Amino acid sequence: MTERHFFTYLLVGWLAVAPVIFVLLRFVSAPYGRHARAGWGPTLDATVAWILMEAPAPLGVALLFVLGNRTSSPAAIAFLTLWELHYVHRAFVFPLRRRGGGRRTPLLIVAFALVFNCSNAYLIGRWLFSFGPDLGLGWLADPRFLAGAALFLGGLVVNVHADEALRRLRAGEPSGYGRPDGGLYRLVSCPNYLGEVVEWCGFALLTFSAPALVFAVWTAANLVPRARSHHEWYRRTFPDYPATRKAIIPFVW
Ligand SMILES: NC(=O)c1ccc[n+]([C@@H]2O[C@H](COP(=O)([O-])OP(=O)(O)OC[C@H]3O[C@@H](n4cnc5c(N)ncnc54)[C@H](OP(=O)(O)O)[C@@H]3O)[C@@H](O)[C@H]2O)c1
Repeated sequence: MTERHFFTYLLVGWLAVAPVIFVLLRFVSAPYGRHARAGWGPTLDATVAWILMEAPAPLGVALLFVLGNRTSSPAAIAFLTLWELHYVHRAFVFPLRRRGGGRRTPLLIVAFALVFNCSNAYLIGRWLFSFGPDLGLGWLADPRFLAGAALFLGGLVVNVHADEALRRLRAGEPSGYGRPDGGLYRLVSCPNYLGEVVEWCGFALLTFSAPALVFAVWTAANLVPRARSHHEWYRRTFPDYPATRKAIIPFVW
């Protein structure tokens, strides 16, 4: 089997698994954060777990950029820059700034996320910097790149801003959960997840690539059911929780 065959099978396999994950997570919320519970085997400190789970994404894609054949391509450099903008923050800044370090994450979750992030970094990095077309300087003025970059950056701002709001909320209750209000929290319980899904839809558009599209589908399959679980938890926990607030899609769901 050639590497191209392996790449295609892996990509199609990931796409096929995404709906299964979506359905599974509607019934069983992933046991970390507020949904952590006993019975999921050995656990790891949550901050260490975050760094371990996420580090393969920025490191793997950067490595594939260096090993690839377009290190001086403006489009490839732009893709790498945007990817790293998100992932250096997610893998190294977010975990070290998070509050409530006493929580632990099951090793099973860490192992699953590691496999996912390694495979995803391989699919994205190999396609953008070796297998896919070199889109050249002109691509940076293409409406698909410009619209995708606007979506990506808009989603990133929403995601980071919403995570920061939770971090400030945690300052008042070091290991507990408050009721987030204000900004996009007026509309949805999980604007951080909404921003994340928008970001990766933007990345799929700006790279116009199948691996990035599969990643956007995966992100939605993972975060939409989790937003629902968070939303139901908020409604159970705060009796005065705003009835008009939705889980992740404003005015809809
Ligand atoms: N691309 C993907 O598929 C993917 C997958 C997972 C996560 N992510 C991103 O990673 C980030 C973190 O994800 P997450 O699942 O941990 O998000 P989360 O459940 O919203 O929690 C984010 C942080 O805020 C704390 N927190 C949550 N709700 C709070 C509240 N009501 N009061 C006080 N503190 C609160 C959490 O503490 P605890 O940890 O103690 O609950 C955690 O440190 C998000 O930006 C998310 O979009 C992306």
